[in-house]
Amino acid sequence: MASQDKVLSVNNLVINFKTDNGILKAVRDISFDLYRGETLCIVGESGSGKSVTSKAIMGILANNAIIENGNIMYRGENLLEVSEDEFYKIRGHKIGMIFQDPLSSLNPIVRIGKQITEAMLINSDKLKLMYHDLISDDLIRYKNTLSKMNIEIAAEKRKLDEFIAETAAKENVSSEERAADKKAVKEKKLAFKEFEKNTREEYEKKAKELKAVLTQTEKKAKQQVKEYKEKVTAEHKARLAELKASLAGLGKNGSADDGDREKILKQIEEEKLEFTNKLKLTKAEAKKRALNIMREVGIPEPERRFRQYPFEFSGGMRQRIVIAIALTASPEILICDEPTTALDVTIQAQILELINRIKAERNLSCIFITHDLGVVANMADRVAVMYAGKIVEYGTAEEIFYDPKHPYTWALLSSIPDVDSKEKLEAIPGTPPNMIYPPKGDAFAARSRYAMNIDYREEPPMFKVSDTHYAATWLLDPHAPKVEMPRIVSERIRISLEEDA
Ligand SMILES: Nc1ncnc2c1ncn2[C@@H]1O[C@H](COP(=O)(O)OP(=O)(O)O)[C@@H](O)[C@H]1O
Ligand SMILES: [Mg+2]
Repeated sequence: MASQDKVLSVNNLVINFKTDNGILKAVRDISFDLYRGETLCIVGESGSGKSVTSKAIMGILANNAIIENGNIMYRGENLLEVSEDEFYKIRGHKIGMIFQDPLSSLNPIVRIGKQITEAMLINSDKLKLMYHDLISDDLIRYKNTLSKMNIEIAAEKRKLDEFIAETAAKENVSSEERAADKKAVKEKKLAFKEFEKNTREEYEKKAKELKAVLTQTEKKAKQQVKEYKEKVTAEHKARLAELKASLAGLGKNGSADDGDREKILKQIEEEKLEFTNKLKLTKAEAKKRALNIMREVGIPEPERRFRQYPFEFSGGMRQRIVIAIALTASPEILICDEPTTALDVTIQAQILELINRIKAERNLSCIFITHDLGVVANMADRVAVMYAGKIVEYGTAEEIFYDPKHPYTWALLSSIPDVDSKEKLEAIPGTPPNMIYPPKGDAFAARSRYAMNIDYREEPPMFKVSDTHYAATWLLDPHAPKVEMPRIVSERIRISLEEDA
């Protein structure tokens, strides 16, 4: 199972879109972590903000997006603040993504093989890669100090703003109280100024130190790369000399035949190729690797398929190619956004199996996005349920399937088609809200038969169910009346528990 090692951390992310009709609130303060080696499923109806979240991680949001708040931390670096240049290194390399529609990620007029090898050849200079790898930790640490500083200052500023807003919102206060509040606000403002100044000083000092470390590391890395190149070159020369000597020696003892000569000439060619491959990924090597990856993702006859165009592939095979392309850079994180929605059910199962296998073999961390809780069951270690731009419940797969708490999760569970009859049991009534005017309180209230008065007024906090399980529903408030989840859900849980036993 997954480790406790966080590979990605999304914190208080808020994303709006400018539209002709007003500001659309697509993602409303979501936070989640991704641990190494796990699959986190994000599930929710269409429009709940799943794709916007994954696009934010990839840095490919539409132009009208406004990131209002939050950060996305990857290896200590806020992805929302890295330069385009650096993001380029992460996007598609450390973090790969597979979309719903494989056709849109493939170029229709370029042969499949070329599309895979091109993805590899982008990073073909191995010495440069080696240099970047050697310095990357220190580089990130240095660049990160400033973004950390900004995050800390922004958090403190938010607290101050909240305090000011709270005092301003008070009603029926005496004039003494008003005066006291005014004083408190003034003091808090001063304290914030002081905090900002100290934080800046502290971080600037740290940044200076880290810069010095980085300079050292860069020097060392340059030296290491140089030594590696020299070593590889010396070895290559020695080997060539050896081969040439045996070639020259062939004629002398009279026993030489053309076969021996040919063998040595071939060895010389191989040595030359191997040498180039150590410094640069060649086209020939890229092709070899592409064929291997095509095999890995289950494409039969890869040599023949290599030369074909996307239209010659079925939907399932195309999705395999897209997965192959995502894998060329050996990513650490794979984001799959509804990768099987456009496929037939049987093909869908095969692709899910493929993703699971690759994830296990390569120890990938995976964010798997779907509107279908039925798919989640086969994929997830943990589940985040999204509704109207918020995470309303999250927990381990077991907790979500056997002990769900939010009425929206119940509704999703009720609507999973039965495995045997394949019929949809209970569609969720109503439609998702208009996100230009998201409802107050619990956004699901209007569609929920469990809604209470408070649901229409106040937003529920995340109530803790267990160390790993949280849900934002007033039903978990100690004062709430006890309610039972829909029978359809409890029955299913009962039956599957019996089957498991
Ligand atoms: N570029 C955009 N401009 C305006 N609204 C957008 C844009 N992209 C997405 N949205 C809106 O953001 C909300 C969340 O969308 P999305 O994340 O794609 O949902 P889903 O959960 O189905 O993937 C939806 O209301 C959608 O209409
Ligand atoms: Mg989507």
